[in-house]
Amino acid sequence: MSAVVLTNPLIGHKLSLLRDKNTGTKEFREIIGEIATFLCYEALSDAVLEDVEIETPICKTHVKRLNEDRYAFVPILRAGTGMLDGLLKAVPNAKIGHVGLYRDESTHEPVRYYYKMPENVADREVLVLDPMLATGGSACDTIAMLKEDGVKKIKFICIIAAPEGVKKLEEVHPDVQVFAAAVDEKLNENAYIVPGLGDAGDRIFGT
Ligand code: PRP
Ligand code: URA
Repeated sequence: MSAVVLTNPLIGHKLSLLRDKNTGTKEFREIIGEIATFLCYEALSDAVLEDVEIETPICKTHVKRLNEDRYAFVPILRAGTGMLDGLLKAVPNAKIGHVGLYRDESTHEPVRYYYKMPENVADREVLVLDPMLATGGSACDTIAMLKEDGVKKIKFICIIAAPEGVKKLEEVHPDVQVFAAAVDEKLNENAYIVPGLGDAGDRIFGT
């Protein structure tokens, strides 16, 4: 299963601003949120709607509604939280879990420091959020933890992916679909995405 990549030219335009090192924290954070909303629409294009009866000002009718309670969004701390508001604009009643991971600067391996999921997470469809899919280590570890908790339907939502990260996810978790605004060229010797946008967490939080 390969990554679903957004092709809308406006997304390309917004990405050009994210990549620019002269784009400041406020604008960077806003654009991350905007793209995250679009990614949420794309990721939920297979959503099954439920039939409900409502009354318009004119008459009774049947309409199709999303059972928002079926979804959980799980940002990977820190940078994933920058995408959360964008997804909540599309599905405001989704439940939220958190996974705390950081990459060890020398080994580039993820180190876990926090894990808290909403109740009945195993019964929900889970969208894991992280702006950057680099080596894929953080994504793979997060997904493994969710599977240990019994979650069966998982999607991974990112702004920029490296081919190496997409390949690793395909190998380790072939059932998990990746949604990205772009798949870049490669990783550099420090496991940063090239051309990428730099350190997503630092740019979102201004650290
Ligand atoms: C970044 C990013 C991902 C991870 C991706 O987080 O937000 O979580 O690296 O790299 P990987 O695919 O090689 O695992 P970082 O470790 O910089 O932590 P932060 O979000 O706290 O800045
Ligand atoms: N994490 C980031 O924030 N940026 C990268 O390019 C790779 C990992």
